[in-house]
Amino acid sequence: MRVLKHLFDQNRQWADGIKKSDPEFFKNLSKQQHPEYLWIGCSDSRVPAAEIVNLLPGQLFVHRNIANLIIHTDMNCLSVIQYAVYVLKVKHIIVCGHYGCGGVQTAMDNQEHGFIDNWLLGIKDIQQRHLPEIDALQNYNDKVNLLCELNVKEQVKNVSKTTIVQRAWKNGQTLTVHGWIYDIADGILKDLDVCVTNASETG
Ligand code: CO
Repeated sequence: MRVLKHLFDQNRQWADGIKKSDPEFFKNLSKQQHPEYLWIGCSDSRVPAAEIVNLLPGQLFVHRNIANLIIHTDMNCLSVIQYAVYVLKVKHIIVCGHYGCGGVQTAMDNQEHGFIDNWLLGIKDIQQRHLPEIDALQNYNDKVNLLCELNVKEQVKNVSKTTIVQRAWKNGQTLTVHGWIYDIADGILKDLDVCVTNASETG
């Protein structure tokens, strides 16, 4: 018995739609992938990477986790970055956070949530380092959203500091790390203007 039949039906409709405009699309794609971008974003279902930037399969290499974190002991994320940079030779790494991030909110409150608290520890550190700035805001959502932005900026630094990205720059590879934030409320992306293009810019 095939469960979740509606998802299989929707898959057929989706694949047929693409094949209608380009009959060879999947055949060509099956031979290789040449994405120019690595997207590191939040797992939040409201932030679907490729859809937001209107890219087709094959154009965006994606890693998502809760609160779009780049942690230097996370083999999963580092493996994705290594493959994207050395094998696929992406030209851009985009760290994309989003306003109202549940992971950031969870890190901000002083309650216990179990295992997830370990994953979110780094965000608590960022909060502590920027406490006066965050406390100066009156509105809770503004505080959350500021920390969402600060988190993206920190993760851009974390990507830039990986041995993978540092070595790519040393080898003369063209690679830019970007920090963006997405607004779930209107579907619009904002560039946080924290691009890093070489080792000397690594903060
Ligand atoms: Co999130």
